[in-house]
Amino acid sequence: MATVKTRLTIKRLHPLFVAEVTGIDLTRPIPREEFRTIWDAFNEHQIIVFRNQAFDDDSQIAFSHNFGELETMVAHPGNDWNPGHISVMTNLGKDGKMLPLDHPAMIHRDRNEAWHSDSSFKPVAALASLLSARIVPPVGGNTDFASARAAYEALPAERKAELEGRTAIHRITHPDMDEDKGYDEEAKKRHTVTQPLLRTNPVNGRKALYVGAHAQEIVGMPLKEGRSMLDELTAFCTQPQFVYSHHWRDGDAVIWDNRCTLHRATSFDKTKYKRKLHRTTIAGKAPDSAFERMPEPQRSCAAPLSRKIWR
Ligand SMILES: [Fe+2]
Repeated sequence: MATVKTRLTIKRLHPLFVAEVTGIDLTRPIPREEFRTIWDAFNEHQIIVFRNQAFDDDSQIAFSHNFGELETMVAHPGNDWNPGHISVMTNLGKDGKMLPLDHPAMIHRDRNEAWHSDSSFKPVAALASLLSARIVPPVGGNTDFASARAAYEALPAERKAELEGRTAIHRITHPDMDEDKGYDEEAKKRHTVTQPLLRTNPVNGRKALYVGAHAQEIVGMPLKEGRSMLDELTAFCTQPQFVYSHHWRDGDAVIWDNRCTLHRATSFDKTKYKRKLHRTTIAGKAPDSAFERMPEPQRSCAAPLSRKIWR
């Protein structure tokens, strides 16, 4: 365990990434020198776990603003039709009772069980996401994280060279999902973007594979061949040695770097246990190099998405 200049301590939870930071109450304003420690840890460890944080939505939003502007979610089944900066990941309805498994919100949330990077289908993809645990099941319901940076670094040099300079098309919709057939063409077009296959953190220059469920084609390759390569790269990233599975405790808050990690929800007995986590999403910047310096705290918000777009 390394002790830093402030009262914060940082402890690695996995051999390759993920650190637990203790000694701070995130619900209060964070001094800049303490945020510097968190920002540096975020860039180095990719995922930061905090314990015993008594977040409500206002304090979660205020802390998230240290990292930059927040994405604004439109009303959709995933947030109980409440637009704003908070997305709610839960199996509960507004009355606090468990929703039936065939409820649209439950079906929508099931797609979070595919490996992905948040908002990779947006022209300016997400920098980070912060989940805070409000109600957790005793068994299951973990969030799995994979280090796409560690995976990239483990690739043979010739494979890295083959991937250099390539780009992939990311979409909000998935060709195999019936639920996605209802998207209007204009919305689909706006949320079909080209992203680099390798995303670089401008703070430390380290590269990561930028893949996951939204990445569906490789520019300049036949569709089938490109998809096969993307599937292979996502499978490579999500091998056990690159994965950390977070078992949620009450009061946990986890922030992850969407530039260099993939994540997925894991299942639990949704008819037996309650689960409720609230997410804020920090918008990225175009280009990524705009985050070379530590961000200034924000009070403004990123422009809302079209009302027709959900995630
Ligand atoms: Fe996600």
